[in-house]
Amino acid sequence: MVTLLPITPKFIVGWVAKRYVAGKDLQSAVAKMKKLGKKEGCCFTVDVLGEEISSLEEAAFFLAEYERVIDAIGAEGLDANISIKPTAFGLLIDEEVALSNVQQLLEKAAEHEMFVRLDMEDHRVTQSTIDVVLKMHERGLTNVGIVLQARLFRTIDDINAISETLGDAADIRLCKGIYLEGAEIAHTGYNDINTAFSDALKVMLANGSYCAIATHDKPVVADSLKQLQAMNMGPTLDDPREDARVTGADKGPGYEFQMLLGVRGELRRQLLKQGHRVRIYIPYGKRWYEYSMRRLRENPDIAWHITKSFLMPWSK
Ligand code: FDA
Repeated sequence: MVTLLPITPKFIVGWVAKRYVAGKDLQSAVAKMKKLGKKEGCCFTVDVLGEEISSLEEAAFFLAEYERVIDAIGAEGLDANISIKPTAFGLLIDEEVALSNVQQLLEKAAEHEMFVRLDMEDHRVTQSTIDVVLKMHERGLTNVGIVLQARLFRTIDDINAISETLGDAADIRLCKGIYLEGAEIAHTGYNDINTAFSDALKVMLANGSYCAIATHDKPVVADSLKQLQAMNMGPTLDDPREDARVTGADKGPGYEFQMLLGVRGELRRQLLKQGHRVRIYIPYGKRWYEYSMRRLRENPDIAWHITKSFLMPWSK
């Protein structure tokens, strides 16, 4: 499927993307969130499609668009926050400018008591992305959290280092990691990645971090539920960890599950039914085509997941 991509007509890619992308504009994202929120009682994080940019003028576009997103979430009273890609704010061009852009956005989000998550991109920016979060906390902007990728060998050290600096204000989304990193820095096999995910979650739970568990993988969800239960954490329980501090109307009791729009809806609904807080990642934007093609090329597993979901559309 990946080798056929360059000759795949755009309308076919568009047909595929429709399931995973809310639409071309903010209006479509708002409509999607209203509909899903009403139907399922889930919450959301919004992603404006796009990442590594080639000029700082492009960063200005993302800053302005995300400001519109914050306003729209506030105006519509949606249970939602935002997820941003630091390279879209200039991280690989000029770190100081990127910091200033992120700071401006966090200040605006703070006015709306909104949380901002920095998505994690490939290994070139792992440390600089963590540094942005730490610097923002240092500047008093605590409405920001990070994503760590279980597949990277460094992740448990990163969790510990972040916990050491931020203490109980650490808010971490743990995912497997979409970028296929080399065997010298990352686990590459399915079982190893799952074990690493479990180990990383254990440390996050023990350190008192807010744990955003981002996966659609049933064994990983089952293991996470087991770990939560062992910690005496659950949908109807107050977070019993004395050193846990990340709370708020938009937070679960020390944890939440997160899933991508269009992926494993049945699992999401099952968790919601059990009372867990579940957040759906809502990407939208004009660059849906480039985004979809890049994701497919970067990680051919996704092409397989998509093929599977065509053959078995009920798996939605
Ligand atoms: P796995 O890849 O084993 O998939 C389990 C099952 O889920 C598959 O068998 C398939 O059925 C289904 N599935 C998974 N992904 C699918 C897809 N794209 N399309 C169709 N079906 C799919 N990564 C990163 O590097 N940086 C980040 O910031 C983020 N942010 C993020 C936010 C949220 C909310 C989620 C859910 C995920 C991310 N990711 C991410 C992506 C993450 O790292 C990972 O690549 C995917 O979630 C797939 O991994 P799973 O844990 O779902 O397992």
